[in-house]
Amino acid sequence: MAFIDLVKKRRSIRKYEDRKVEEEKLQSIVKAALMAPSSKRCQPWHFVVVDDKETLAKLSVCREMGSKFLEGAPAAIIVLADITLSNVWTEDASIAAAYMQLQAEDLGLGSCWVQVRNRKKTEAGDLTSDAYIRGLINAPENLSVECIIGVGYKGEEKNPFDEAKLKLDRIHKNSF
Ligand SMILES: Cc1cc2nc3c(=O)[nH]c(=O)nc-3n(C[C@H](O)[C@H](O)[C@H](O)COP(=O)(O)O)c2cc1C
Repeated sequence: MAFIDLVKKRRSIRKYEDRKVEEEKLQSIVKAALMAPSSKRCQPWHFVVVDDKETLAKLSVCREMGSKFLEGAPAAIIVLADITLSNVWTEDASIAAAYMQLQAEDLGLGSCWVQVRNRKKTEAGDLTSDAYIRGLINAPENLSVECIIGVGYKGEEKNPFDEAKLKLDRIHKNSF
C-alpha cells in the first residue's frame, strides 16, 4: 500500500474483535517505534506491551473518560519515557506512538491513542493517570507515561480520510 493510502486509512478504532493479536505483530509494532526519530537520538522511550485482560481492565480506568475502550481491547502498548534523559521526551514518545499506529494499520489492525500525560485518574481527585499507571506496572520513578495505544483486530469500520475535506487553508507558504 502506498504510504499516503496508509495515512488516509488510519482512523481511531475503539471497538475490537474478541481475537488475540499475534505476538509477532505486537513485536513489529514496537519495533517500528524503536525506529522513530528522537531528539539527539536519545531514544528515551520504554514500551510496555500488555495483553493481560486484568491489567487492560485496570488501564481502562486510568481516566474517567477517554480510556474505557481499553477494557475491550485485546492488547495495549504503554508508551513511557525517561524524563531525566530529555527535556523533549513528550515529542519523542509521541512520534514513536504515531509510528506504532501506522504500523498497526499496515498490519490490518486498528488502534487508538489514550492521552495520559497531563491527565488525572478522576477529575475531582489528585492522583494523576501517570502515577496510577506507573503503580500498576511497577515503572521506575524516572519514567513518565505519555499515552497508551490500544490495539486489536477492527470491530468497527471507519471511512478513510477524504482529501476533498482537508483543511487546505491551514497550509501557508513562506508567511501568513
Ligand atoms: C494526542 C492525542 C490524544 C488523544 N487522546 C485520546 C483519548 O484519550 N481517548 C480516545 O479515545 N482518543 C484519543 N485520541 C484519538 C483522537 O480522538 C482522534 O485521533 C481524533 O478524534 C481524530 O480521529 P481519527 O484518529 O479517527 O482520525 C487522541 C489522539 C491524540 C493524537
